[in-house]
Amino acid sequence: MHATISKHLLSTKLVRQHIVFFTGAGVSAESGIPTFRDAGGLWRDFDPYIYCSASGLREKPKEVLDFYNWRRRNLIAAKPSPAHLAIARLERWHDVTVLTQNVDNLHEKAGSSIVIHLHGELTKVTSSRNRQDPACIQSYPLDKPINVGDMAVDGSQLRPFVVLFDEYVQWEEAERIARDADVFVIIGTSLSVSTSIAFPSFPRMDVPRYIIDPVDYRDKLPWGYIWINTKASEGMEILTDEVTNGFKMYEQLWG
Ligand code: OAD
Repeated sequence: MHATISKHLLSTKLVRQHIVFFTGAGVSAESGIPTFRDAGGLWRDFDPYIYCSASGLREKPKEVLDFYNWRRRNLIAAKPSPAHLAIARLERWHDVTVLTQNVDNLHEKAGSSIVIHLHGELTKVTSSRNRQDPACIQSYPLDKPINVGDMAVDGSQLRPFVVLFDEYVQWEEAERIARDADVFVIIGTSLSVSTSIAFPSFPRMDVPRYIIDPVDYRDKLPWGYIWINTKASEGMEILTDEVTNGFKMYEQLWG
C-alpha cells in the first residue's frame, strides 16, 4: 500500500491535478452563514423535523417558507470568505471541482467554475409536486419571498429548490467525480447526514485526502485522511502550501 501511495505522490507533484473539494456549512461560517449543529447553529433554534422535512412543508407551509425566505435574504449581502476564494484560486494551476452540501452561492461568488450542489440551491425554486423535474427548476430573486399560494410552472405550490430530510439526494455524478479525484479535501462538515457519511469513502485510497475542521475530529476521522485542525480559511492556507510543495504532510505520513 505504501509503495502505491509513494508512486502516486511522485506523479501528483509533476502534473495538473484534479482536486475535489467536499464542503459543508463550516466553509461558509466565516462568511457569517450559521452552521446547523454547532453552538448557535440553525438546528438549535429551528426543529429540523419541521423546517427541513417534506411533512413540515406540507403541514406548516408559511413557517417553513419564511425560514427559507429569511435564509435567502441573508445571502444577498454575504461575501465569500478567504477559504472560498482560496479554493477558486487553485483553478489557476489545477482542475478543481466543488461538491457542496451547502445551499448558499458563496463558492460561485468566489469564482469557482464547477460547483455541484448536493442539497440544492437557495437561488432557485421548484415545484412541490415535481421537485427534480428540470422544467420546474428556475432561478428566483433572493429578495422575492416565496409565499403560500405562489405557483410553480406545473401549478403546484412553489418551494425553494432544497433537499429536505426525507427526500432523495441525487449524488451519482458527484460520486463518480469523487471516485476520480487525484486529491480530495473535506471542509467544515460534521459527517452527520447520509451525504457526508457516504462521501469520505468514495475517493481512492492511494490519493491524498484531507479534512479541515476546527473541532476535535479524532473519534470520527475516516481512515487515511489528514486532519487539519483549523478554521476553513487558515486550513486552506495550509492546504494550498501542501499542494504547492508536493504533498509533504501526506508524504511524511504515507511515503
Ligand atoms: P454541521 O452544522 O452539521 O457541521 C458544521 C461543521 O463545520 C462542524 O464540524 C464544525 O466544526 C465545522 N465548522 C464550524 N466553523 C467552521 C469554520 N470556521 N471552518 C471550518 N469548519 C467549521 O453542517 P453540515 O455537516 O454541513 O442539510 O450539515 C450537513 C447537512 O445537515 C446540511 O447540508 C443540512 C443539514 O441538515 C439539509 O439542509 C438537507
